[in-house]
Amino acid sequence: MSEETKQPVPRRVLSGMRPTGKLHLGNYMGALKNWVELQNATNEDGAPKYECYFFIADYHALTTDYADTSGLKENVRDVALDFLAAGLDPKRCTIFVQSDVPAHAELSLLLGMITPLSWLERVPSYKDQQEQLKEKDLATFGFLGYPLLMSADILVYQADFVPVGQDQAAHVEITREIARRFNHFYSGGNQEILPEPKVLLTPSPKLPGTDGRKMSKSYGNTILLSDTEADVRAKLKTMVTDPARIRRTDAGNPEICPVFDLHKVFSSSETQADVRAGCTSAGIGCIQCKGWLADAVVKELAPIQKRREYFEAHPDEVDAILNEGAVRANQRAEQTMQQVRCAVGLV
Ligand code: TRP
Ligand code: SF4
Repeated sequence: MSEETKQPVPRRVLSGMRPTGKLHLGNYMGALKNWVELQNATNEDGAPKYECYFFIADYHALTTDYADTSGLKENVRDVALDFLAAGLDPKRCTIFVQSDVPAHAELSLLLGMITPLSWLERVPSYKDQQEQLKEKDLATFGFLGYPLLMSADILVYQADFVPVGQDQAAHVEITREIARRFNHFYSGGNQEILPEPKVLLTPSPKLPGTDGRKMSKSYGNTILLSDTEADVRAKLKTMVTDPARIRRTDAGNPEICPVFDLHKVFSSSETQADVRAGCTSAGIGCIQCKGWLADAVVKELAPIQKRREYFEAHPDEVDAILNEGAVRANQRAEQTMQQVRCAVGLV
């Protein structure tokens, strides 16, 4: 085939999420929604642009939550349901659970041999998290190795692109460094065995929770993908607003109101204009404004909840999807591991 007619090989995309339980709008807007777009992206000829792998990082959950693992299974299940509800489609991507693919652990072990401790100690999240999660003892080997395991997650698929938020960019950077060091020690002929992956930064809109702080499970201020319409309306009704708007007749300032931050993400530009005009002139009340927001959020969630209902009613199908995903992921990972074992002299 000539250069011009050759089909471009779809480039591999990989990303993962820790099983933190039911996912919220922040998880969706900051990651999942983007994953669905990547899985659906096509070239001009209609062929898929990427070969996508998306997984639930249950090993990673153990790096911090090792003391009580009783909820792990259920959390993995909840996240799997949310993946499918959000529109990840097993026909278009490979969906799996990390611990179903032992090659992640094997590669992590081998990469550990060449990874200087100082590289892991200087990853910003290492000290930050230790300080934030004071109630847990994170002076463990496993927690220090979090970025190393993440590197193995990525490199075991020889992934080209890793869609993550800014908070994970440093982890992709250390992955590149570890890959470079591996390639430096162990050559695979004229081709590098572990290509350096590139980060695909997911633009994450500012998504406040109902208390005005960043939407986060640990703050208890989230709107879940699985919340019913009534839940969404009730939660938004209690959301904090511009504190200067005490009475209905006080004018407000949408630019400092967390409700408006959500309007900017979910509402049409017409609705946003109506809010701006109505708020600054005291023409609308906050209850009405929040009602409009709820309409927009409910509309965004409707297709997600429809799919969730389907998969909740078909648990065997969810099992089959994860099993099939594990088979495909194991096959791809094994290809890399054969090269890796050989390169380090193990075979
Ligand atoms: N550390 C990521 C997070 O907390 C989850 C994760 C684990 C991941 N392994 C990965 C993301 C590999 C991308 C690629 O969000
Ligand atoms: Fe916020 Fe809307 Fe109330 Fe204005 S009207 S303060 S934007 S909730």
